[in-house]
Amino acid sequence: MTDLTTTYLGLELRSPIVASASPLNGEPETARQVEDAGAAALVLPSLFEEEILSEEMQVGGVLEAGSEHHAEARSYFPTLDSFAGIGDRYLTTLERIKARSAIPVIASLNATTATGSWVRYAELLQDAGADAVELNLYHLAVDPHRTATDMEAADLELVAAVRSRLDVPLAVKLSPYYSAMANFAGKIVDAGADGLVLFNRFYQPDLDLDTLDVVPRVELSQPVELRLPLRWIAILRPQLGPEVSLAASSGVHSGTDVVKALLVGADVAMTTSAVLRHGPARLEVIEAELRAWLVANDYESVRQLQGSANHATAGDPAAFERTNYLKTLHSWTGAQEGFESPG
Ligand SMILES: Cc1cc2nc3c(=O)[nH]c(=O)nc-3n(C[C@H](O)[C@H](O)[C@H](O)COP(=O)(O)O)c2cc1C
Repeated sequence: MTDLTTTYLGLELRSPIVASASPLNGEPETARQVEDAGAAALVLPSLFEEEILSEEMQVGGVLEAGSEHHAEARSYFPTLDSFAGIGDRYLTTLERIKARSAIPVIASLNATTATGSWVRYAELLQDAGADAVELNLYHLAVDPHRTATDMEAADLELVAAVRSRLDVPLAVKLSPYYSAMANFAGKIVDAGADGLVLFNRFYQPDLDLDTLDVVPRVELSQPVELRLPLRWIAILRPQLGPEVSLAASSGVHSGTDVVKALLVGADVAMTTSAVLRHGPARLEVIEAELRAWLVANDYESVRQLQGSANHATAGDPAAFERTNYLKTLHSWTGAQEGFESPG
């Protein structure tokens, strides 16, 4: 029997296939289906800093609204305890999902500022049973007065602030748009991350030409998007060492995608779009494909496969990438488009 077990963030998992943050994982009923279909762990959708702060402002508003009324009238206003906002609902859902799950449940925070009362939620997630916390750093560098160094320093402060609240492991989900990824990834680990999730997908809003409104649009990913995490995990695995967990996220749709992620050194491969497109049962297919590939290629275990094709074998990763780039450009023949290139 092929051994699919792996370790991620110090958690022992039955396989390397993890259900990354998605709406399905945020409802006890559908989270159960995701687990039953074979997810080795699941990540809840994110609780956003903005949601926590706006909830606190509403609570403040409610209490203040009552303050000018006399005591009897004030009893008509909801008390702080009865105000179950987004944060409370998130914690309750986490508790319910955790109580019914046999697999690790990872809670997710999405934030941009290190100061602020929202940081206490890291601890609350842990108290509600989260086996680990994933911190999603999602922001755009739109301020022309802030340098890359300023932005990175703020992110590192944020990671350290969340780390200081936690005893459970912390993963940080990054975007691919940092200017010096290898350096920054190391600093995130130094700031207290036990693992990195590579990468966050950025959703580009569209324009509605009838209303001239900005329209939010979620496009599910395509398998080709896996190449970006593959490249960076291959580069980072030897640099960060085996003790730092790495998760591939973006474009994992099949068992062979999982194989590729493991080959370059990922501990787990995360998937959302494939599950949203085909339903939780897609996880069973992915696992069966992974198992079949391992058997066909004489691997006894996932651990045997992990990291056998990363940059540890290339003496100079930058030169390796340049050579690859050149080879890729020269590999174009036009045959795919139905005509031959000149010469
Ligand atoms: C509808 C939808 C909701 C998502 N919600 C979250 C979220 O709350 N937090 C988060 O970190 N990522 C979220 N993601 C991103 C996914 O977790 C994942 O990183 C991304 O979709 C890339 O993986 P995929 O190619 O397997 O879809 C969401 C993705 C989709 C499609």
